[in-house]
Amino acid sequence: MKIILSGALVLYSLLGAIAQTDMKSKVFVFPRESSDAHVLLIPQLEKPLQNLSVCLRAFTDLNRSFALFSYATRANDNELLLLRAKAGEYHLHIGNEKISFGVNEDLSFPVHICASWESASGIAELWINDRAQARKGLKKGYSVGAQAKIVLGQDQDSFGGSFDNHQSFVGEIGEVHMWDFVLSPDQVHSLYNGETLSGNILNWGALNYEIKGYVVPKPQLWS
Ligand SMILES: *[C@@H]1O[C@H](CO)[C@@H](O)[C@H](O)[C@H]1NC(C)=O
Ligand SMILES: *[C@@H]1O[C@H](CO)[C@@H](O)[C@H](O)[C@H]1NC(C)=O
Repeated sequence: MKIILSGALVLYSLLGAIAQTDMKSKVFVFPRESSDAHVLLIPQLEKPLQNLSVCLRAFTDLNRSFALFSYATRANDNELLLLRAKAGEYHLHIGNEKISFGVNEDLSFPVHICASWESASGIAELWINDRAQARKGLKKGYSVGAQAKIVLGQDQDSFGGSFDNHQSFVGEIGEVHMWDFVLSPDQVHSLYNGETLSGNILNWGALNYEIKGYVVPKPQLWS
């Protein structure tokens, strides 16, 4: 009996260590500009990536540059980085290289963003509110490294740190998912419409995360 009980306790604490939260209908609120507030996302799957997609919804009235999704490895701070450089311009970095997309959008409204990349061709896609932007390419043949620090709310200029408050995110982020494949247009469309498609690397419906500093999970007020 004693052995069974301590076995159950060990199992319980193991489950506690990998606790996952269903964030559906919730968002992370980044209430003010800072150089420390962020959310560290712990992936379900760690492996080098030849294909990938990242989707999220963001709501902000910022008109300066800010990071949306920062995935750094020890080798590259900008291993995978999605940021908005200014109104109407997004940057996607893969393996420290960058491409930019000019976008006709109004970010004072919630915006749904999907970015994907495939190594075989180097082709990257950026979808803004279910509309594909003209495709570009970078890092053909590259593999995005595993053992990453994945951060929402700040741009990593070193592995897990060196944040700049002028690139911090202020506003709300939700529905973050990441996959090890390129989503089809139908899948992007479903996500845009709020249907559940769970990421296999990061899944908003079973999210393992750590909040650092002033970030507050709250019910989503917008859609
Ligand atoms: C990546 O996608 C290509 C198709 O674009 C596929 O042929 C390849 O097997 C995929 N690689 C992995 C590791 O999933
Ligand atoms: C936002 O920045 C752009 C330049 O990037 C500028 O043209 C525009 O007027 C700014 N909008 C607001 C509301 O400040």
